[in-house]
Amino acid sequence: MNNSNIINNKSFQDNDELSKNSGSESDQDPKVSQLNIEENKKLNIEILPENTDKEDLSFKVIIIGDSSVGKSSLANKAIKNKFESSYSATIGFDFFSFFVKINNKILKLQIWDTCGQEIYQSLITNFYRNCSLGIMVYAINNRDSYEHLDLWLKEIKRESNPDAKIFLIGNKCDLEKERVVTYEEANIYSEDMEFSKFFEASAKDGINAKEIFIEAARLLYEDYTEYKSEISSSVSEKTNPELKITLNKNEHKSTCC
Ligand code: GTP
Ligand code: MG
Repeated sequence: MNNSNIINNKSFQDNDELSKNSGSESDQDPKVSQLNIEENKKLNIEILPENTDKEDLSFKVIIIGDSSVGKSSLANKAIKNKFESSYSATIGFDFFSFFVKINNKILKLQIWDTCGQEIYQSLITNFYRNCSLGIMVYAINNRDSYEHLDLWLKEIKRESNPDAKIFLIGNKCDLEKERVVTYEEANIYSEDMEFSKFFEASAKDGINAKEIFIEAARLLYEDYTEYKSEISSSVSEKTNPELKITLNKNEHKSTCC
């Protein structure tokens, strides 16, 4: 087996395991600050520099959505604290790394920022595989980008791990006067389609840009810790016969791997 592990079909790399075995700048508008800050406070979370050269866990995250909705801008704002008002279309992919330390584990998000142009789509969907989390972006001032979400969702569900988490992001929320997609309708869509999270954001003003990736890291870390506890309970099941009897009585089944 190579160094990739599976959590409910999502892949991650645990370098610790390998070695053993071998703030938003926003105005706090409630509509744009739906991040579970309380949850994050319970964990000890620290953002590390982009050039961090160590990681314990590594996850592939893909950003998709129509051209010009601000996918690259969100990644640039979150990771490099930069925003360019001129438009330079991504050709193929851009790559970013986002490092977060959560409870002493260093997580690396390998972020694949894809181009939204249709001509590249057949090439790009091949790279959705093994992604742990997808970030689907539309722009609140671009109705077409919202109407196309069904297509993006279908693609990501078809090509990536069936259990990959998916976030929905309504970008450009600084352009309130040009808004053509309401927060409420997108929120209902997000609930209907069972997105893991829905936020509005602005790469321009830095609203929720960094928080998207912090929240992604937090959810992936939670999956990892759940996976670890499933593994240890299945080890106890094997090594502790009394526990095994109890588990069998309760018809407990480990879902690991
Ligand atoms: P492709 O690479 O072609 O798929 O586009 P993209 O989704 O990566 O869009 P990109 O980040 O290049 O941004 C497109 C344009 O929108 C640029 O001119 C950005 O400056 C602008 N833009 C991005 N985010 C925001 C935002 O939050 N607010 C405003 N007002 N403009 C934004
Ligand atoms: Mg781009």
